[in-house]
Amino acid sequence: MPNNPPPLPTRRVFASLLTAGAGMAALAACTPENATPSPVAATATSEAPSAPVTSSTATPSAAATETAPVETASATPSSTAPSQAVAPQHSLTDPTSPWVVVNKHRPLAPQDFVPADLVQPGVRLAVSGEAALLNSTTAAAAEKMFGAAAAEGVIMTLASGYRSYSTQVATYGGYVASTGQAAADRASARPGHSEHQTGWAFDIGDGAGACSFQPCFAEQPAAVWAKANAHKFGFVIRYPWMFHDTTGYFYESWHLRYLGVEAATDMSTRGIATLEEYFGLEAAPDYL
Ligand code: DAL
Ligand code: ZN
Repeated sequence: MPNNPPPLPTRRVFASLLTAGAGMAALAACTPENATPSPVAATATSEAPSAPVTSSTATPSAAATETAPVETASATPSSTAPSQAVAPQHSLTDPTSPWVVVNKHRPLAPQDFVPADLVQPGVRLAVSGEAALLNSTTAAAAEKMFGAAAAEGVIMTLASGYRSYSTQVATYGGYVASTGQAAADRASARPGHSEHQTGWAFDIGDGAGACSFQPCFAEQPAAVWAKANAHKFGFVIRYPWMFHDTTGYFYESWHLRYLGVEAATDMSTRGIATLEEYFGLEAAPDYL
């Protein structure tokens, strides 16, 4: 495994990769954090969920043939700008804080943190066990969001919630073993660096189970609805399209992070795409 993975592609290079079709394979590495890719490598068809994913609805579907999502003006990357930052109302380091920022430069402390208030939300589940848990605040917000989506005819599932440190060891290790460290680091957090360990984040699936954890999920009703409405319930899409230079990860249209209604709505209103920019923190494309 390479110890010094190559730098992330520039946006221009990345766009070229997409145009050439190679980008879809790269994006397919953004597969479920609780899924262990098969040895065939990071293609959309090679992913196979491992425990605790138990439902077939969490199984990635056929190859992603859809076109890549169109980058919108609101998703145009910009450098982190301290002027965009808000005055801290909550800790950015305490993992029990709704504003904790976990990224490749900001590991969880303690690294084996376990939320004290894990609960199973009353939502449609595509998983069981640990992966069906969220912290209590996130669970309550998820129930409201899933309910509002359903009221508009959009069914979403909880496809991956809490993951312990030890689960992340296995998940990340599976990626490294099958895709190599460089590809793994664009799709899966190293142990102690995943938002899933905080209980503040979860992945959604579509009611029809289509395109789970694949680039084409962005075009499924659940993802489209979430992108337009999640902020009303306190959530942000944590790893937006083409912001890998800031977040360190390729687009994950399924990964929602609770921040609180006020802050999430503020980010949406101001067109701020990443927590790094919102809180005036440095970009974290790679581990230090
Ligand atoms: N896929 C996200 C980055 C995680 O592993 O937490
Ligand atoms: Zn996730």
